[in-house]
Amino acid sequence: MKYDIKVSKTKQSRLNEVDFDNIPFGRVFSDHMFVADYENGKWTDLRIVPFAPFSIHPASMVLHYGQSIFEGMKASKNENGQPMFFRPEMHAKRINASAQRMCMPDFPEDLFLEAIHSLVALDQGWIPPQEGSALYIRPYMFATDEFIGVRPSDTYRFIIFTGPVGPYYAKPVSLIAEQTYIRAVAGGTGEAKTSGNYAASLLPARVAQEKGYDQVMWMDGKEFKYIQEVGTMNIFFVINGKVVTPATDGAILKGITRDTILILLREKGYEVIEKPLHIDEVVAAFDRGELQEVFGTGTAAVVSHVAKIAYGDRVLELPAIEGRKIGPMIKDEIDGLRSGRIEDTHGWVEEVKTLELVD
Ligand SMILES: Cc1ncc(COP(=O)(O)O)c(C=O)c1O
Repeated sequence: MKYDIKVSKTKQSRLNEVDFDNIPFGRVFSDHMFVADYENGKWTDLRIVPFAPFSIHPASMVLHYGQSIFEGMKASKNENGQPMFFRPEMHAKRINASAQRMCMPDFPEDLFLEAIHSLVALDQGWIPPQEGSALYIRPYMFATDEFIGVRPSDTYRFIIFTGPVGPYYAKPVSLIAEQTYIRAVAGGTGEAKTSGNYAASLLPARVAQEKGYDQVMWMDGKEFKYIQEVGTMNIFFVINGKVVTPATDGAILKGITRDTILILLREKGYEVIEKPLHIDEVVAAFDRGELQEVFGTGTAAVVSHVAKIAYGDRVLELPAIEGRKIGPMIKDEIDGLRSGRIEDTHGWVEEVKTLELVD
């Protein structure tokens, strides 16, 4: 271990209070969290402590100017009960890409990895054993200067906490192609996983839900014609056997599930196209009877099938899930890689190292 992470273990584990067959998403938190503070240009006071609230100064810059970034990743157990991460270094890299855009300090990738290994090794009892269930991991960083005025903070806090999540039996989702609000434009912060992007999405999502749809399908900010992504997912279309997904253009989050699926589909011989995707092309494919599947991809759901898309006065009702091939196949492939049921030939799955932690 390169870094000196001090560990204070909880006196009273809450693990026996958890019903692993019935875990509400995002509401159950494991026993410990990792914390580090950035001061005088250095990450200091690296520690794992019992999960607990902490106090924050009313003038903390994050509360006013929104310098806040995060990641979402998972650890799961393979068939032998061994805890595993999936492509953890991609999350270490992406949080630094977000940090750069938000004028925040880099968090060393090797420290990120050491911190998640130490934390998850300690709380591995919290990883649900069933395939499809997982320990959700939330690394995040925020500005802590006690200061009123718009400038980058000099001090930051980095935290990682975790919590078990059940299998995500997402029912197919309905989407509205957004024609009023914008999530992101090239040159903005869309490619960063920063809190403000999610705050901006809340009102449009509520309006969509009031119209009876689950989520918004974001369109480009200039013409409202080019498809971007959906909620917390990237989006894929299967048109006449070919897989098409919007090219990342600076306004779309570069999903790690998206990247994984692009690699797997190409290896399996599918034609996969990343390009600016005009909604008229999707509507025309639908009218020709060639729009076979639409699915969203992300860490939480892995693959979420889309049942229908509203665009202006059109509603595109997609073929039944039972007849779909590519979405279900790729979801099974990723679940299988995570559980060890399918052999990992890419080095994507990494065993959680059981570290000697000193109290
Ligand atoms: C806006 C947005 N798009 C796409 C994704 C999917 O990314 P990933 O596959 O890395 O979870 C997420 C989730 O992190 C997201 O928040």
